[in-house]
Amino acid sequence: MSKGVRVLVPATTANLGPGFDCLGMALDLYNTFQFELGLKGFSAAGEGEEALRKEGGRLIYRAWEAAYGFRGLAAPPVKISLESRIPVGRGLGSSATAVVAGLVAANHLGRLELGAYELLLLAAEIEGHPDNAAPALMGGLVLTASEESQSGGQALTYVVLEPPQLTAVLAVPAFELSTAKARSVLPEHVSHRDAVFNVGRVALFVAACTCRRWDLLRRAMEDRLHQPMRATLIPGLTEVLEAAKGAGALGAALSGAGPSVIALTAEEQAAAVSEAMAKAFLGHGIDCSIIKTTPAVRGAYVVD
Ligand code: HSE
Repeated sequence: MSKGVRVLVPATTANLGPGFDCLGMALDLYNTFQFELGLKGFSAAGEGEEALRKEGGRLIYRAWEAAYGFRGLAAPPVKISLESRIPVGRGLGSSATAVVAGLVAANHLGRLELGAYELLLLAAEIEGHPDNAAPALMGGLVLTASEESQSGGQALTYVVLEPPQLTAVLAVPAFELSTAKARSVLPEHVSHRDAVFNVGRVALFVAACTCRRWDLLRRAMEDRLHQPMRATLIPGLTEVLEAAKGAGALGAALSGAGPSVIALTAEEQAAAVSEAMAKAFLGHGIDCSIIKTTPAVRGAYVVD
């Protein structure tokens, strides 16, 4: 019998409004990856299975090889089976789960003994930014600050915080938006005024979560660095954000690069918030599905 491992990795929501490329949170919605050493092949079932099969597990294998490569080893053949529960291309960290799963499985099966920081650096490098990779790996609400290291590579400082104990309503439009496309509409430069607007709100968001000041979230989830530009790619975005808050959400933001929208709310308001968000998208001719979940403390984990 071949040696194998199962890895579960959570969905993530990045940015949370103002924390562009530096704030991300795990959600209680997990993809499951089965790895079997010595066999070959890739299969995917569930959410986005067609797109995932087409992609052929490329990202997972890339991460698998990168982890072995970090130790100067060639990666052995492995068969991968993915049970997908996270919508693909919707700003919910599906690709980060693939990267993190490949790294964590290699670390476990290859006894590579990479620590959390090494795994995070590899995941962020493959993903291109750390804000989905970090909570997918570690769970919770994760703040990351990147810098160029002296060797020219990337260095990261990170802090994992307890995520807010609130309900997360995700409005997931019936169309995909690649992160590359969503980044292509962002300007090279931002105004000092907009930077100050966001800096204050990121600080407020962290304060809201650490002090449980949910009354701050409405303001704390506002953004001027990416959402206004991305609204051109996501019909109804502004109205959906307003509809969520109008229906009683504590705060709302574009999830990652979009097109999904996340609202944080008390459980009692979740049904009204869901309905209002779906209706607002529909008002712009966009069908969406609603996922009701919660922030998750648990990051990627292994089941032997
Ligand atoms: N922070 C990224 C973006 C999303 O907004 O483009 C994470 O992949």
